[in-house]
Amino acid sequence: MNLANAAEASEIEEARLATYPAPYPEGWYVVARDKDLATEPTQVRVAGNDVVLFRDNEGQVRAIEAYCPHMGANLSDGVVRNGCIECPFHKWRIDGQGRVVRIPKGQSSEPVHRTSSWPVIDLHGWICIFHRHGELTPGPAPAPPYYLERVREIDDGELRYRGEYDAGAIHMHLLEFVENSVDYQHFEPIHGELRIPWTNIPVPGMRIEHEASWRRDASEPQVSWFENEAQLAFRGKVIPRSGATAKVRLEGPGGIIRFDFRIAANGGRVVMFQSHTPTGPLTQRVRFRWFSDRSVSKLQAAFIVGHWVSQWRQDLGIWSRKIYRKRPLLSRADGPVHQLRRWYAQFYPAR
Ligand code: FES
Ligand SMILES: [Fe+2]
Repeated sequence: MNLANAAEASEIEEARLATYPAPYPEGWYVVARDKDLATEPTQVRVAGNDVVLFRDNEGQVRAIEAYCPHMGANLSDGVVRNGCIECPFHKWRIDGQGRVVRIPKGQSSEPVHRTSSWPVIDLHGWICIFHRHGELTPGPAPAPPYYLERVREIDDGELRYRGEYDAGAIHMHLLEFVENSVDYQHFEPIHGELRIPWTNIPVPGMRIEHEASWRRDASEPQVSWFENEAQLAFRGKVIPRSGATAKVRLEGPGGIIRFDFRIAANGGRVVMFQSHTPTGPLTQRVRFRWFSDRSVSKLQAAFIVGHWVSQWRQDLGIWSRKIYRKRPLLSRADGPVHQLRRWYAQFYPAR
């Protein structure tokens, strides 16, 4: 129960935030769906920056700072001309690398980098940009330290697009999601009850038994793996070949996570992406997008993803009110929290 009034509540929030590491670690974040980006410029807020997205003459999505380097007008109010944004205020034109390429009535000169830009990729229908630490500086986007791995079977058409879900704004610090994967002790109390997919409604008599593990990838430093085998039990008796296994690729600080679900009953495969885009220090925009092979219908895939979403929702109440314990009081049964934190530290600048 929380009896805090509004002023107390905001003080509590500040105090909670102060316990956490910085809110925006380096990594790839989803900023839009490819299909939502027409030619008009679109503004997005991500990791403390306002960014404008637009398509250049080749149809490539570009990301530059949303405010004009001239007098600060919002470039998303401008138009795209000849692959550049034309600012609404004094009609300067800026290209996808942040170069001013035209100044009406101004001196004609070589295009000069005047504002900052971000690397952009399209990950199976999601437009993602790479966020770096530090002040924004004018210039072409520096090459990111890694690119997110694509799924060959999606590119080949073996796995088909089956659906997506936008969960909206979720109140949590980004690292809670990743840290959850080594918190083995919360699976039973928080995720033990089977729920009707997409809902909070428990299924009477049914429990889920979890067996989980986490490890760093042997060759890619930015990757770690969480594996979970979930089996269903009715009144304490495990049901054979029920449930599913999930192999989860954590690539970066938790901006984009890939789940590979295998259904125990028939080996069917569902690949789901979950993304967290930090739009504020304790606010994440969370989206899901999934694909499945031919043996899993659209409805079955939605069922599997819905199971996951129902379980994920169980964590939200905890995440929205907890603090970050730098030195948690761990028991022997806890997972490798410190190992995970050492791995995660790579997404912050070296101190
Ligand atoms: S503020 Fe953009 S052209 Fe002047
Ligand atoms: Fe959880």
